Amino acid sequence: MKKFITSPIYYVNDVPHIGHAYTTIICDFLARLWRLQGDDVYFTTGTDEHGQKIEEAAKKRGFTPQEYADEISAKFKTLWDEFDISYDCYARTTSDDHAKTVRRAFEIMHAKGDIYKGEYEGFYCVSCESFFPETQLVDGEFCPDCGKSTRILKEESYFFRLSNYADKLLEWYEDPNCILPQGKKNEVINFVKQGLKDLSITRTGFNWGVKIPESFNDPKHIMYVWLDALLIYPSSLGYLRDDKNMSYWDNAYHIVGKDILRFHAVYWPAFLMSLGLPLPKSIGAHGWWTRDGKKMSKSIGNVVNPKEVADAYGLDQFRYFLLREVPFGQDGDFSQRALIARINSELCDDLGNLLNRIIGMSKKYSDYKINSKDSLKYFKSEIDEANAICLEALNLADELATSRYLEELWKVLSIANVSIAKYEPWNLIKNGETHKANALVAMVANLLAKVAVLAAPVMPKSCEKIAKAMNFEIDTMSYEKLIKNGELIDFLAKDSQPLFAKVEEPLLESPVATQTKEEKTENIITIDDFKNIIIKVGEVLSCENVEGSDKLLKFKIDLGEDRPRQIISGIAKYYNPADLVGKQVCVLANLKPAKIFKQLSEGMILSAEDGSLTLISSMAKVKNGAIVG
Ligand code: MSP
Repeated sequence: MKKFITSPIYYVNDVPHIGHAYTTIICDFLARLWRLQGDDVYFTTGTDEHGQKIEEAAKKRGFTPQEYADEISAKFKTLWDEFDISYDCYARTTSDDHAKTVRRAFEIMHAKGDIYKGEYEGFYCVSCESFFPETQLVDGEFCPDCGKSTRILKEESYFFRLSNYADKLLEWYEDPNCILPQGKKNEVINFVKQGLKDLSITRTGFNWGVKIPESFNDPKHIMYVWLDALLIYPSSLGYLRDDKNMSYWDNAYHIVGKDILRFHAVYWPAFLMSLGLPLPKSIGAHGWWTRDGKKMSKSIGNVVNPKEVADAYGLDQFRYFLLREVPFGQDGDFSQRALIARINSELCDDLGNLLNRIIGMSKKYSDYKINSKDSLKYFKSEIDEANAICLEALNLADELATSRYLEELWKVLSIANVSIAKYEPWNLIKNGETHKANALVAMVANLLAKVAVLAAPVMPKSCEKIAKAMNFEIDTMSYEKLIKNGELIDFLAKDSQPLFAKVEEPLLESPVATQTKEEKTENIITIDDFKNIIIKVGEVLSCENVEGSDKLLKFKIDLGEDRPRQIISGIAKYYNPADLVGKQVCVLANLKPAKIFKQLSEGMILSAEDGSLTLISSMAKVKNGAIVG
């Protein structure tokens, strides 16, 4: 069967971290498993490069958006290549081909009567590239998804008639597998039942995006970044160009993080219905990797570098940990302690050690030859149980329950390990029961081979080593034989290196750190750290004392944005408010907004202190919003 699997395309404003690696590795696991089962799989990943967020991030760093996107997109691609991710297409939204698909799709949706022109007035979160009605904002201002300050937008826009699709979406949600896990589906249903508003699908006021088709004669409009981004999925199959690989679309599976489920489970199927394309078979939403309970993100500065972890502990060990540690859909806290515990007990003891014992026993009892002709006679119940578990594991993989999938496979290893302890082959040999001893070795070798076949999509290299050590192939044929038909095979073992090494103590001082030890002690930051700080020049529009405080002043400052910022600053002792109006000051612009004296403060005015205090300004007048860097 042809199957299509997609990871989200990653924003290029952030370098890859384990959250991204997790999504991609889940997709890679499924792609490899399905290929093993004989499916013809097409796997798309890539980068999401348009939008205001990227334009601003590039500008802040002194790059053009394209230069910036090229650099970060290459970083993602390099990482996936180093991680041996089996993608078929690395798609980028800035490719000309993709722009053709997006424009053509816009025309089709318009011809269907689903697009009309109007005006958007409301709130927009640049970080999530998402619109929100005021009722959903936190404290009337902050994004309900990421907590960042929203902007007020009032601009001409083309709208998509999302409101027309609510009933059809609710009908689709009746398909038991359309959104997994089930709990996440209920959240989506509730969202849709609250009523859907038409969606603004073009933006004006900045340039970094795909222009709407020329036939609209409206050149200031560019596509809303989520419409552009979601269309990457069929576009990577040649949609509305040569349609070369569109036969994969009939069985499309999307893996996404829970934060972007709404875009995939509400907007996307509605767009697809408008385009007349089949809906995805499943959208799987996983949870977040956190550090100390906080979502990992560059802006918080708590990201774990996946390359660092894989280099230190081994790629397969890392992949195993990510897929095993957290039930699909739930959040999980990353810790080296948990990783080490799984490596030592599940990989070294349960798996690696079993291979060593099989090699050792076969060497001793039968000159490495492992013949399973008597295994069913003596060990039918163990074999039947293992076969049933393997099939159950596959059902769990269909539900995307990666952790439970591996848990099941480890039950098979447990049957093998327990059988060795229970039947004591060394005593069987001593008592002259050579047939039974050899049948036992062959039974446990088959159990290990079954696990190696099904664990190969999780740990390709290590399972390949198992197959080499026992002289069998991991491919669709062995899958059919060992798993689907539950058959037994013979092996010829050979001495091999241990599969995994035990880990005594954490191998990384802190995978969060991107600084060297020296840098940390001297409090030196890297240029990347500095790039996280946005300082802007802005003009004081008004300044007054905060009632009830003799320290605080309340400023309105024009930072060249849609609306002035309100900033509370503790400098009342040093300045007369009226003297500051019209002056330009420097503002730390990406400081998390806070309430000071019950007043919202959206940034920090910079000053120099040397016993007294003086505000920092530029030597000549500059445009409000100019970046200091
Ligand atoms: N560009 C959009 C996706 C467009 S798809 C048409 C986007 N990009 S992202 O880079 O911000 O996130 C991509 C994926 O990484 C999402 O699935 C997101 O959930 C995942 N992760 C980002 N941080 C994460 C964690 N800390 N933990 C797990 N996954 C998280 O959204």
